[in-house]
Amino acid sequence: SEKASCGSVRGELCDLFRTALSVSYPDVAADPVVAPCGNAKNGDYQCNNAMALFGKLKGAPNAPKAPRDVANAILGALPANDLVSETSLAGPGFINIRLNKDFLSKRLSNMLVNGLAGWAPAGYIGKKVVIDFSSPNVAKEMHVGHLRSTIIGDTLCRIFEYSGADVLRLNHVGDWGTQFGMLIEHMADTRKARVAAGGEDKDADEDVSDLQELYRAAKKRFDDEEEFKTRAREAVTRLQSGDPVSLAAWQRICAASRREFEAIYSRLGVTLQERGESFYNPMLKGVVDELKDAGVATIDDGATCVFVEGQSVPLIVQKSDGGFGYASTDMAALKHRLNEEKADWIVYVTDVGQSQHFELVFAAAKKAGWLVEGSGPKVSHVGFGLVLGEDGKRFRTRSGDLVRLVELLDEAKSRCAATLRERRVEAGEEVNEAEVEEAACAMGYGAVKYADLKNHRTTNYKFSFDDMLNLKGNTAVYLLYAHARIAGIVRKAEKDVYAAAATTPISLDHPKELELALHLCKLPEALEDAIAELAPNRVTDYLYDLSEKFNSFYVDCKVLGSEQEASRLLLCEATAVVMRKCFEMLGIKPLYRI
Ligand code: ARG
Repeated sequence: SEKASCGSVRGELCDLFRTALSVSYPDVAADPVVAPCGNAKNGDYQCNNAMALFGKLKGAPNAPKAPRDVANAILGALPANDLVSETSLAGPGFINIRLNKDFLSKRLSNMLVNGLAGWAPAGYIGKKVVIDFSSPNVAKEMHVGHLRSTIIGDTLCRIFEYSGADVLRLNHVGDWGTQFGMLIEHMADTRKARVAAGGEDKDADEDVSDLQELYRAAKKRFDDEEEFKTRAREAVTRLQSGDPVSLAAWQRICAASRREFEAIYSRLGVTLQERGESFYNPMLKGVVDELKDAGVATIDDGATCVFVEGQSVPLIVQKSDGGFGYASTDMAALKHRLNEEKADWIVYVTDVGQSQHFELVFAAAKKAGWLVEGSGPKVSHVGFGLVLGEDGKRFRTRSGDLVRLVELLDEAKSRCAATLRERRVEAGEEVNEAEVEEAACAMGYGAVKYADLKNHRTTNYKFSFDDMLNLKGNTAVYLLYAHARIAGIVRKAEKDVYAAAATTPISLDHPKELELALHLCKLPEALEDAIAELAPNRVTDYLYDLSEKFNSFYVDCKVLGSEQEASRLLLCEATAVVMRKCFEMLGIKPLYRI
């Protein structure tokens, strides 16, 4: 794929070919199309512009006779540079490119000496990126779908942050809505019952200690008891009109929910700024009025709707009973993010089930003139698939409940801890509990994250502890071991590799050294692709390939005690550094010894 000028090798090649194209065919606008070669035998990269350009030039005076002539003309105009060592033509007019070894070697040395800052995807410095992710609902279950959103969203944030963007991590918590009426009313009844039984007339912590249970009990009464239903509805009205007693009860529920969410976020090392639906509540009426006044929204069957082309249903911004809902809030939130946050890019991470909702919201915003196709701020919905149990159905526990996330994470961790202890005991080593705990967290939580991120986000995947904790597969555990092994090699050499990096050139004479070096230099491209497609699996794919390239290098190229030790240690360290950058992007803590 193509990419405008940036810090990647592909980007630099694009720049060269952009010049070559404008010199050889100044009258035809053509973006350079540069991609890695499908077959490494042919070259490292290829430029594929000649064929399409030939088509465009057909019929013009002095039109080239064949695409190969176009390719030759482009090549003839390629500026002098130190990247490309060789080019060749293949097929109808592909230009194969072989990179200069010396260029790759210097790029790696430079990375070791100056760090990875220069390898970040370019074009995002100072850009405001709002990522709306995780976003569970108060008093309802935080389920595996929210876990996916949390993991995917966090990785996207990390990649944008590395790229220098000003990232706002927003937790659009479902903390407002009609469900609070029944919860507040049920809590009040519980308190009354307690007083009647001789208890104290005050709020008790236990009222909100099990929110799932509170929700279940309140919902059951709401469905079964007509009188309760009426009171619950009245409670909603009181809450919405700002009654202090109702607000206090609402706040207690939110605070209890927040504590539960925090337990997950702290395990995962994810930070988020809470800005729930309630935040936008005061803005809803104004936004809907604006849409109505502008003629963007119209009344249909009593409801206020935005009809957009190509959609079978409208976006309902106000219900016929006057109530505002999920869509109203999203319109207000979008407006706030554009006008107040001055977002350049707003990204929403939810299950694919909400795709249509976001299509409608985005289309309505375009209709209102808040967004303009092809210019100004961008919006993207990052949809993801389901998490399935081993039985291929929606992931649930044996009791049929949706799985509780904290328990899930704790189990991953304790399984890792058990394995680590076992290994220590088998090796006759002492078990250092603090060290086991640290490694088990990195492995267990890392495994859950990696197993999620490695799938393309839109595919459904099976949640399996056995698979994700497999020492040999494409898992976080395997990669953490691989990294620790490389760190161990460098440690064993007892050399200051960073001092050496400034003076010892990295030799890439062995084909496996060259292959590894080329892959290392492709980190920026993997990250660029991850951003372009909002697809974290671009990073996991890259990381896994890297570990394989390293293994294959290590099998053929002796490091410690070899003549090339100094240079090869630099390749080892460069691999470890790049692996750690990938772990960082994935929110996984690297381990140096396991
Ligand atoms: N709370 C919603 C849910 O659980 C997700 C919110 C996503 N963000 C948004 N701006 N709509 O499905």
